[in-house]
Amino acid sequence: MTFAQAEKRVNELIEKINYHNDLYYLKDQSEISDLEFDGLLVELINLEQAYPQLKQDFSPTQRVGGAVTKNFPNVVHKYAMLSLGNTYSHEELEEFDKRVKKLLERDDYQYFCELKFDGVALSVTYENGVLKQAVTRGDGTKGDEITANARTIRTLPLKIKSESLPALFEVRGEVFMPNNVFHELNKSRESQGEALLANPRNTASGTLKMQDSAVVADRKLDCYIYSLLGEELNSTSQSTAMLGLEKWGFNVSPTYRKCANIQEVFEYIAYWETRRFELPLETDGIVVKVDNLDDQQILGFTAKSPRWAIAFKYQSENKPTLLKEITYQVGRTGAITPVANLEPVLLAGTTVKRASLHNANEIERLGLCEGDTVFIEKGGEIIPKVTGVDLAKRDPKSQPVIFVKLCPECQTTLERKDGEAVHYCPNSKGCPPQIKGRIQHFIHRNALDIDSLGGRTIEQLFDSGLVLTPADLYRLTYEDISNLEGFKDLSTRNLLTGIENSKKAPFEKVLFALGIRYVGRTVAEKLAQHFLTIERIATATYEELIEAPEIGERIAQSVLDFFEEEDNKALIAQLKEAGLCFEVKQEAVNLISNELDGQSFLVSGVFQNFSREDLKSTIKEHGGKLVSSISGKLDYLIAGDKMGPAKLEKAQNLNVTIISELEFLDMIGRK
Ligand code: IVH
Repeated sequence: MTFAQAEKRVNELIEKINYHNDLYYLKDQSEISDLEFDGLLVELINLEQAYPQLKQDFSPTQRVGGAVTKNFPNVVHKYAMLSLGNTYSHEELEEFDKRVKKLLERDDYQYFCELKFDGVALSVTYENGVLKQAVTRGDGTKGDEITANARTIRTLPLKIKSESLPALFEVRGEVFMPNNVFHELNKSRESQGEALLANPRNTASGTLKMQDSAVVADRKLDCYIYSLLGEELNSTSQSTAMLGLEKWGFNVSPTYRKCANIQEVFEYIAYWETRRFELPLETDGIVVKVDNLDDQQILGFTAKSPRWAIAFKYQSENKPTLLKEITYQVGRTGAITPVANLEPVLLAGTTVKRASLHNANEIERLGLCEGDTVFIEKGGEIIPKVTGVDLAKRDPKSQPVIFVKLCPECQTTLERKDGEAVHYCPNSKGCPPQIKGRIQHFIHRNALDIDSLGGRTIEQLFDSGLVLTPADLYRLTYEDISNLEGFKDLSTRNLLTGIENSKKAPFEKVLFALGIRYVGRTVAEKLAQHFLTIERIATATYEELIEAPEIGERIAQSVLDFFEEEDNKALIAQLKEAGLCFEVKQEAVNLISNELDGQSFLVSGVFQNFSREDLKSTIKEHGGKLVSSISGKLDYLIAGDKMGPAKLEKAQNLNVTIISELEFLDMIGRK
């Protein structure tokens, strides 16, 4: 392919991918399969890798992330990001309307109503139609520049196609994590024994500040745009600005409405009071704006907020109900979660029977007594919470709730580390839900994916004493399984095939399946890519672990603790024996020589004699190993033109040998 052909194809691919992306994410339609879409994206990624000059800021490949930002630079907002005054009652809203009328000295103004989205405010600058910079609200005057992370938001245009665009403008909106994405994320965290995330808002906020934009891309954030700022804009009102934003391809929530007077605003409030729970995201009220922009100018601002807008907050629905009993759940990692079992109560459209109490501190904070009547709220959080106790209904003789001392499943004395909120059952080898939980985790869809093995079968295998560790699965015989209740010839063979197939799972899945605390799917991938073999992970020091990308102190310590345990070492040995994969498999390559055997390489920059992909293949063909990040263990960094200075500095600090393309050619005997 010539350079000109590549350039033409890159442009075609960008056009096509953007078209299908918008169709899918903004219009909920698709004309091609996911597979075909991914195919286009992979083609573009490959072309951009082969011709780095063709890589653009607005390429849809930016959406999959990859850029890592250690410290987000502070940026001063061109226009301050103010907050809104809050009201909680119709009276206060009427007063707001009176103030507007008085200041405008007329009453023919209109309002523009929107929902108040519960997410994170973001300001995004476009230059000549291209997304240039995204900054969080921060303190309102300056915020954090998180452009690489914002580019992963599929509904935020990277380049706008329109004839009549102002050269420079800013849009503002709310970044959020859709409720279904949040639920999925928490489900997967639960299965990994990780702490649950409190609510979509905090999760969205934490996600935007993550260092690795590839992880951000995985988190599927979304963004509703609600304002447009700039010097040369045509719109005369909030409503026309919103129509313009929609035309330019921004994601505008279809829930807005123009209201002729404050009465219609009240109707809007009533309309959304319960319907808002059917929306894909959390909302906590509505925002009322004077529609006309000249009117907005006349009204102006107070020190903190505009006089032309106000937020009306819905009271979160709160109901009393009887606390029947507190039960305690034991997770895979032994963590104990107290659960309030309630007299069923209808709240925000659903019947609530249970609410999490999180931990002993929460029970203490609420001052719960047995038989209390408690208030339940379904507000910002999706899981209902107990917000307080109706003391008037308390029986004076009732006793405070005392957190269980023994594990409800195996009666072992519970432990709680200094400074930690969570109690743990330390009997990891003998406590049934912990043992079954580990097996369940091992076979999970994201781990070894043995789909013919369900919760009930694990229960049977455990009860019959056949499977107490994941390694026992690989010792099961036809007789063992066919003797279980409900198993016939076909189901037995299916299960055996499922177990056999799981031996093909790649290293990162096996590593995740081991259930090391805090090592979720992404962390497992990072560890595997960085260390390549289980031995290297097992023998890594704390310092070496935290050098790996995305590995913080907590994860590093947890990995060290895991590999200290004799049982875990034995489990790995048995799984290895069974034939599971404990190293990153390099794809089959035609070995030309063993010149580079045992040496690890990282390539960075642009090269004269090779495309980056060619260079990587050449390394593999001569027996070398490729790694994706710089660490003290890296043997050689092959530095090309335009290599990032940060990479170079890191390699120098870690005393990694840095070689040129020519020196590399020398190593493999080519000139
Ligand atoms: S307009 C002067 N519209 O609420 C501020 N804000 O307290 C004008 N928010 O920081 C903001 N949904 O993060 C506006 N439809 C909406 C909104 C909205 C949520 C947030 C935003 C802002 C905060 C103001």
